[in-house]
Amino acid sequence: MEIRKIAVIGAGTMGHGIAEICAIAGFYVSLNDVSEDILKNALSRISWSLEKLYEKKQIKEEPNQVLSRIKTTVNIKETLENADFMIEAVVEDLDVKKDVFSKADSIMPKHAILASNTSSLPISEIAEATQRKDKVIGTHFFNPPVLMKLVEIIKGKDTSEDTLKETLALCKKLDKEIVIVNKDIPGFIVNRILARVVNTACMLVYKGIATVEDIDAVLRYRLNFPMGVFEVSDYSGLDVFYFIHGIMTKRGFKARLCPILEEKFKNKEFGVKTGKGFYTYPAAGKYQKPEIPKEKATKLDPAIILALAINEAAYLLREGIATKSDIDKAVMLGLGYPKGIFRFADEFGIDRVVAAIERLKEITEEGIDPDPLLIKMMEQNKLGIKTNEGFYKY
Ligand code: 3HC
Repeated sequence: MEIRKIAVIGAGTMGHGIAEICAIAGFYVSLNDVSEDILKNALSRISWSLEKLYEKKQIKEEPNQVLSRIKTTVNIKETLENADFMIEAVVEDLDVKKDVFSKADSIMPKHAILASNTSSLPISEIAEATQRKDKVIGTHFFNPPVLMKLVEIIKGKDTSEDTLKETLALCKKLDKEIVIVNKDIPGFIVNRILARVVNTACMLVYKGIATVEDIDAVLRYRLNFPMGVFEVSDYSGLDVFYFIHGIMTKRGFKARLCPILEEKFKNKEFGVKTGKGFYTYPAAGKYQKPEIPKEKATKLDPAIILALAINEAAYLLREGIATKSDIDKAVMLGLGYPKGIFRFADEFGIDRVVAAIERLKEITEEGIDPDPLLIKMMEQNKLGIKTNEGFYKY
């Protein structure tokens, strides 16, 4: 199949970035949203980003030339007509997404593939709205799509091999690295892991064990994360994390939402987009990297912040949802971690991770037990670097 025109539905944080990378790769893009204001704002963000990339010689084409391949419209029929591939990036709400997919199914040509950038909803549930479930797939990009190399590809239960092949080929043209999620579970790989870090960190603050800055300082300066977990939550939107949490827990993800996150959601303190989240920003939509004092980085054991994320990664591996190397690749390319989550586990020591999970159980009342894989590793004395074998051999 030759893809010429890509329809991007939703021009928010993710949609505008997805439209941008498609246009950079040479595709014609029709970008749709519900208001002219949103589309205008999206175009100005794309324009800013293209200028930055051009200035740094990360793209060869002039920004205006790339921009000329992006058309915007509030008319969804116009967007979908004659498009060969759709990437939907609307709000994380199953009914809204199903409505888009149903329209796409009736308007787009028969050969077209319908992809969702959902952060957490099972693809098979979205595909129900169409008569072409074999051509529905998940393509989960990361914020900002122009800088984050990863796309998680999620197969629904009816997604065909051809659809997978075409989608992989498209992602390669978009210059992305891919991990495949073998089972259509809510939150896939990255957001399940990230949700554990976000909720743990937030619960540690809620219980008065550490401050927002203490935790972000540990992550930034001791573990060399590009952003602390509160920074990244603000950056991508606390509303997004709130919705993801709700969708996942409704579908069996065991976690108690941190009350601070709930309160911030109610107060519409969504982070950068509203000017306030865990940190305060110069204005709504204006990002400025928060100042975090280095000396705060010694106040907390890093293992406790990542323990439940490691536990989640162990679950994903044990259940065959993704391979060890894909899980490590996913956190490195999707979240910018300097090494894989299993590498962190091996460095901390599996016994220390399990002890941290037990401690968190008391602190957070989330009731999450160590995964059977971690217990088995303890029994086999595969404790990580110190015993020459953990998730990896040394
Ligand atoms: N386009 C072009 N350039 C951009 C840009 C964009 N969209 N955004 C930032 N830049 C530029 C900056 O302006 C800056 O340029 P300068 O050097 O001229 O000032 C340059 O990129 C580097 O930015 P910074 O110095 O501010 O920051 P970093 O060096 O830390 O890099 C980052 C930025 C790549 C975003 C890095 O901080 C990172 O990897 N952060 C983690 C992000 C992350 O975890 N994303 C995933 C969130 S979860 C998600 O998306 C899933 C969803 O389902 C919730």
